Amino acid sequence: MRIEESRILIVGLGLIGGSLAAALRRSGFAGEGREIVACDPDAGEIERGIAMGLIERGGTRLAPLVEGCSLIVLAVPVLAMRGVMDELAGWLERAAPGVVITDVGSTKATLREAARSAFGRMPTNLVLGHPIAGSEKSGVAAANAELYVGHKVILTPQADTDPDALARVRALWVATGAEVLEMEIERHDQVLARTSHLPHLLAFSLVDTLARQDERLEIFRYAAGGFRDFTRIAGSDPVMWRDIFIANRDAVLEALDDFEGGVARLRRAVEAGDTDAMLATFDRASHARHYFESLLNQTSYQAEYQMQPHGNLRYRVSPGGGVSGRIRVPGDKSISHRSIMLGALAEGVTEVKGFLEGEDSLATLQAFREMGVAIEGPHQGRVTIHGVGMRGLKAPSGPLYVGNAGTAMRLFAGLLAGQAFDTELTGDASLTKRPMGRVADPLREMGAVIETAEGGRPPLKIKGGQRLTGIAYDMPMASAQVKSCLLLAGLYAEGETRVREPAPTRDHTERMLAGFGYAVQRDGNTCWLTGGGKLIAAPIDVPSDISSATFFLVAAAISPGSDLVLEHVGINPTRIGVINILQLMGADLHLENQREVGGEPVADLHIRYAPLKGIDIPVEQVPLAIDEFPALFVAAANAEGVTRLRGAGELRVKESDRLQAMANGLTVLGVENRLHEDGIDIVGGGPEDGPNYGGGHIDSLGDHRIAMAFAIAALRASSEIIIDDCANVATSFPGFIDLARRVGLVLEEAQEVS
Ligand code: S3P
Repeated sequence: MRIEESRILIVGLGLIGGSLAAALRRSGFAGEGREIVACDPDAGEIERGIAMGLIERGGTRLAPLVEGCSLIVLAVPVLAMRGVMDELAGWLERAAPGVVITDVGSTKATLREAARSAFGRMPTNLVLGHPIAGSEKSGVAAANAELYVGHKVILTPQADTDPDALARVRALWVATGAEVLEMEIERHDQVLARTSHLPHLLAFSLVDTLARQDERLEIFRYAAGGFRDFTRIAGSDPVMWRDIFIANRDAVLEALDDFEGGVARLRRAVEAGDTDAMLATFDRASHARHYFESLLNQTSYQAEYQMQPHGNLRYRVSPGGGVSGRIRVPGDKSISHRSIMLGALAEGVTEVKGFLEGEDSLATLQAFREMGVAIEGPHQGRVTIHGVGMRGLKAPSGPLYVGNAGTAMRLFAGLLAGQAFDTELTGDASLTKRPMGRVADPLREMGAVIETAEGGRPPLKIKGGQRLTGIAYDMPMASAQVKSCLLLAGLYAEGETRVREPAPTRDHTERMLAGFGYAVQRDGNTCWLTGGGKLIAAPIDVPSDISSATFFLVAAAISPGSDLVLEHVGINPTRIGVINILQLMGADLHLENQREVGGEPVADLHIRYAPLKGIDIPVEQVPLAIDEFPALFVAAANAEGVTRLRGAGELRVKESDRLQAMANGLTVLGVENRLHEDGIDIVGGGPEDGPNYGGGHIDSLGDHRIAMAFAIAALRASSEIIIDDCANVATSFPGFIDLARRVGLVLEEAQEVS
């Protein structure tokens, strides 16, 4: 963006003002009719600025410099701003059409006050702003053209701020390489009190305290890493910081109160040798710090969701080939979520092996950390959870963000309905469209107080401290998430909570509760438990996820010459619809080495290519294969004849409308299909050895399973398949690309260029 200003006046040529001039110079602001001038009480600073080539001219008095300026930047300490504004006021009244004024002060409410008193009202051409960048150095000599690159600049326009003035100030900062955003004045001051002013106060205080204790500064000789990292900012400009603490007094005091509370708690823990409390605090802080760092680098899962809601990874998969070898896919997502939830509520320490380090289950893990649970790991699938007991969770300090994870949100709804504190559950754009009334309604029947957004969508606001009572609930849909949600609420409810399911759904919650010593009973389609019991920590060995294994099962089932073993896959009877359906279609699929680990059956799945035939999918298999349909549709596209699916309306409310998304994609490839409200007909087949359909460009709609399904479809396509919006594959299947390549797929991932 080009800056249209003719003459920019910087009032206060220190580090911030000087760096702005330097950055503008670097961006090419110079030459004919374009000038930077500066005013500073210290004539030496002006001379230095000229010598450094940052400004054309300047002086110590404002009046002679303002005439002819198009933009004025106030870069003096906060308390000096009022004096400058008073001087400007007279001049502004006389003449200055089109001039824009902005500032760089670290606090905003007092500057708004100062402006109101100086100008009689808040001028519409004054745009208050604050670059979040700096250094402990001061003075123009420390000016740095790179200071603002990649940093945020917060502008705090008012309702009546002139849009042209705002656009010009925005352009100024964009030219320095900064990212410009807008915020309300009050919010700005609170945020800065916590993220900047409080740390400065602590650094000043710590250095001063130590310096006083050690007059000869002897101990500073030994002060290495920790001291240096913590106190670097204590070298900052004292006048500037005095002004900030006067200007932002109330917000700073509030932040300081919170901080003192935290230190007092930690002090008690240290005094009492309370190792759990210490570990919990350090662990939470350490993870928050890592999370925060990755947020800054925009690499964490939450950051990716929030900053690039429409994932931007593209897969390019070459046509043809087969798959072979022995692989182990990552841990089961459903069991991983539950391992953290029950481990956190248990008494004792739960050791988890095989935990899925995917974004969904990591979101669950992070949420428990935010509720005060000390969790070590994950390190290569190992997680250690220091359970806090049924009543040991603490109120999180903000909304719990669960990203793309429907399971997390629905199970949390039940678990949090029984807590003493309020919570709010939020998620990414896809999750925000998914129905939560299915859990909120029965939970309300139990006595929970839950607010949803319109149409029963997230966010969910859950009121704590409610008395829950068990209910007998007849589930209108076959959903393990709803069942599990109610059972978890039932742990906190008075009496029995009974759930009847219209068809069997995955029973991991029931199995794991039993493994943790909590009695869950079942009679036919109904299961129930009685509230008020406790959970005792038990080790958990998470098997590989049959839902992830499915992509490779189908890959082998459709490509001639394939011979693949998938090791250690969970074959819980409520999950094996995909095995049953593939076998009905004629797949050469065998279970080997069947065994039980930690209450869940597992096996190695051995599959070799064999021609498939279309079938009518038995309706009772639908809930048992609910997550596997995107891949099964690809199998159907390669099976001779028609495959018909009905009774699968639930597919429309998954991470995407999977019936629609798959129908669209299959149509792109030229596979004949007919969509129904609750299912689809797919006409498959083709030559034994050649491609069965074309290639093309597919939109996964950000749905991990749609993306992976079309990746394996390429094995029988006549040309390349390109799939957009694949970042969410990491929610359930980190390492998919590597494993896919290992067994023989030829696949590249790249950033989408829009
Ligand atoms: C899950 C249950 C299923 C499934 C989801 C995981 C679970 O959802 O689709 O991926 O872990 O309980 P529904 O309960 O909505 O069918």
